[in-house]
Amino acid sequence: MTEPPPPPPLPAPSPVDFLVRPAVWNTDAAGLMSVRTTVFVDEQNVPMELERDGLDPACRHVLAFALTANGTADETSPIGVGRVTASGHIGRVAVLADWRGRGVGTALIRCLIEQADASVVDLNSQTHAIPFYQRLGFVVTGDEFEEAGIPHRRMMLKKRVGHIG
Ligand SMILES: CC(C)(COP(=O)(O)OP(=O)(O)OC[C@H]1O[C@@H](n2cnc3c(N)ncnc32)[C@H](O)[C@@H]1OP(=O)(O)O)[C@@H](O)C(=O)NCCC(=O)NCCS
Repeated sequence: MTEPPPPPPLPAPSPVDFLVRPAVWNTDAAGLMSVRTTVFVDEQNVPMELERDGLDPACRHVLAFALTANGTADETSPIGVGRVTASGHIGRVAVLADWRGRGVGTALIRCLIEQADASVVDLNSQTHAIPFYQRLGFVVTGDEFEEAGIPHRRMMLKKRVGHIG
């Protein structure tokens, strides 16, 4: 009698294997810029002079890191970033390509909403990313326009008290 075939491998687990934390420009600029340069400048061909707009020191930032096997954040190599201005404008949201579709972007936006002082937050979404922001409760409020050669639309979200996204 022939042996039964071995069972198929278990599907890869999809735990939350990353961590998002608030970041400070003075100490985290290198990590923030490494992800932004990879995604916006290298991948999306945004000119560096447009990417560096001078607003960063006055913004609140967030960073995402992979968790290592012992459960600590690998602070040497950030995987996602974002920022929010004092007036509640969210921007520079980026996740490294290998990490997309695993909840990092959602966690970044939730952390930015928490970080924002303003009761209403807004952003200019790249048109392709509108469904991503709509899932988080943002609504489109304007017509399409170009920024850095990429089509965008303005979106906004009114924060609830104790907003968790
Ligand atoms: C947009 C971006 C930040 C999303 O980050 P992410 O980590 O992939 O997002 P999540 O994994 O939290 O996605 C949450 C959901 O939104 C969806 N989604 C993510 N990006 C999307 C997109 N561009 N279009 C449509 N849906 C999208 C995901 O499929 C996911 O849905 P699912 O749970 O049904 O699978 C990331 O794709 C990115 O960095 N893109 C390049 C830079 C960029 O375009 N930034 C946005 C500037 S406005």
